[in-house]
Amino acid sequence: MNTNRLSDTLAHAINSQMTKEAHAAQIYLSYAVWADNEGYEGVANFLFRHAAEERNHMMKMLEYIMKRGAKPVIAPIPAPFADPENLADCFGKIFAHEVDNTQAVYMLVNMSMEEKDWATWNFMQWFVKEQIEEETLAMDLLAKIKIAGGKNANGDALYNIDRELATMPDNAKSAEQVTTANP
Ligand code: FEO
Repeated sequence: MNTNRLSDTLAHAINSQMTKEAHAAQIYLSYAVWADNEGYEGVANFLFRHAAEERNHMMKMLEYIMKRGAKPVIAPIPAPFADPENLADCFGKIFAHEVDNTQAVYMLVNMSMEEKDWATWNFMQWFVKEQIEEETLAMDLLAKIKIAGGKNANGDALYNIDRELATMPDNAKSAEQVTTANP
């Protein structure tokens, strides 16, 4: 008896999104390493924490595919972006990446609606909500750097942003706090 409750089309699409979340984790990781290397330790700390959050998103997708009786495929993760030119470029690319991710999430919502797979539609609502927070976070970063002078921001302004991000709260949890329902 076939106990797979996901269509091949949706399973494949969720699997692709799972890899996209892993790619996001790699992007944040590589930007964190760049920031640390540039001396922005606060920014690096923030980006390292966010990389962990993206990996939790990946795990949430993986567990959902398994829970619905399909088999996730662990695919190669594309290379992260090249190093940004400066902090303004870094935050700008993060914002663009989050908007792109929101579009991918919306595509999955559309697909689940077309198939009338309401379980997947419901599952995806968590990501719809999460993307609002992710975009807001990226917008805030961008606003901070713009106020500081964008790519021409001076050392003092950059120092203050770096200090602020070192303690800025985000949604990242330690591994032991993470569950499928609450990644
Ligand atoms: Fe998993 Fe930043 O979206």
